[in-house]
Amino acid sequence: MALQIAPSILSADFANLQTAIESVPGADWIHVDVMDNHFVPNLTIGAPVVSALAAATSTPLDCHLMIAEPDRWAVDYAEAGARSVTFHVEAAADVRSCIGNIRGAGARVGMGIKPGTSVEDYLDLVPLVDMVLIMTVEPGFGGQAFMAEMLPKVRRLRELVGDGPDAVWIQVDGGVAVDTIEQCAEAGADMFVAGSAVFGSTEPNMVVEQLRGLAHDACQHP
Ligand code: DX5
Ligand code: ZN
Repeated sequence: MALQIAPSILSADFANLQTAIESVPGADWIHVDVMDNHFVPNLTIGAPVVSALAAATSTPLDCHLMIAEPDRWAVDYAEAGARSVTFHVEAAADVRSCIGNIRGAGARVGMGIKPGTSVEDYLDLVPLVDMVLIMTVEPGFGGQAFMAEMLPKVRRLRELVGDGPDAVWIQVDGGVAVDTIEQCAEAGADMFVAGSAVFGSTEPNMVVEQLRGLAHDACQHP
């Protein structure tokens, strides 16, 4: 199981996104939070900006869609060049068709689960996706407090999917920082999003490597 760190540019300077991305050369992915003022009460960026970012970096983009009607819109983000596109099950009219649309456009598929949503209700779909995102805050804003009560979801899912080379990736997003990442890794997460912890620092790349080291040491899986 390879551990991956995905800094979220939600906490970066929106006037200098290219500089922000270049400040974290150790990142495995760049996490791009797309919000539409409908699914969450915040508005960020859309497919044209994702397309510009994809052209500006060779680090793969991990698009997290916090938007209504992903059935209609998710494909645009895959076509814009995101290597991974995650939609929220709570927003999808037809989860299976969302999965098919994203995969059909050539991106990896992520299925996002809000804190109040049970992962058990979607277990039959896990074999169809590449990643399950277990939110560790309510989606919408960076800089919120980590919800440790989400860790049993991570643990249960990892127990079910195992930790072999083809096992689904389990992403945690929200409040992930040097004081919380170890619990996430120990529970079985292998993809870690960190926004304010990374871009709130004057040494963002050092934080990325620090997070990786902490996750690695806490990880109980090979
Ligand atoms: C929240 C976003 C997160 C956000 C995390 O809705 O999905 O990706 O950037 O920010 P931090 O790491 O500051 O909690
Ligand atoms: Zn996110």
